[in-house]
Amino acid sequence: MDAAWRLFAALPLGAEIRESLVATQRELARHWPPGAVRWARPDQLHLTLRFYGNVAAVEVPTLIEALQGACRGPGALALELAGLDGFPNPNQARVLWAAVRGDVAGLARLEERIAAASDGFGDHHERREFHPHLTLGRIVERGLRAAPQGQKPWWEIGGPTFGSWSAAAVHLIRSQLAPGSAHYTELASLPLDEPPAPSPERCPRT
Ligand code: 2AM
Repeated sequence: MDAAWRLFAALPLGAEIRESLVATQRELARHWPPGAVRWARPDQLHLTLRFYGNVAAVEVPTLIEALQGACRGPGALALELAGLDGFPNPNQARVLWAAVRGDVAGLARLEERIAAASDGFGDHHERREFHPHLTLGRIVERGLRAAPQGQKPWWEIGGPTFGSWSAAAVHLIRSQLAPGSAHYTELASLPLDEPPAPSPERCPRT
């Protein structure tokens, strides 16, 4: 393939909720030895809607157009993050994530629209059902379990909610992998609202 870019579509987070997640990551870090978890960096916290794998660079403008069509109209989504969990399960977690609440039905519809509009782009074909989650960290060492701290298991950390935000746009993001990290570049921001109707032309009074 000619130049190929690793791409994904995601919802960005509001600043406040990001801060609350960073504080949670700090608390969570006490449950694993240093270096055992690769934590998502604050500027890289996002809610993934679709991962494309490698997309030919020449196809990116067409992908952006397809996404524009899928995103136009449904309106901003009122979302909340509340509760911690792990893949494949909290006790043997390899991925630590925060759960999504609020308008999850709207979120699922948006994911379907995006999947339908951009099916066929990229070399990653998702077979798993969409499971909304926000990744906070990934366990680097396979099989390493969390050490209990006090009475609480790690998934009971944090208050009843990490906060709410209004997701008003989908971002198409390029991820460039480097050893132990990734560099993200926002390629497009696709608003979820209808563009305002053009104002009716004013006829000069006669
Ligand atoms: P996740 O962390 O929300 O699960 C950028 O790499 C994003 O794309 C990641 O945050 C991840 O979403 C998703 N992603 C990366 N590699 C993936 C893969 N092989 N399969 C599915 N999603 C992937």
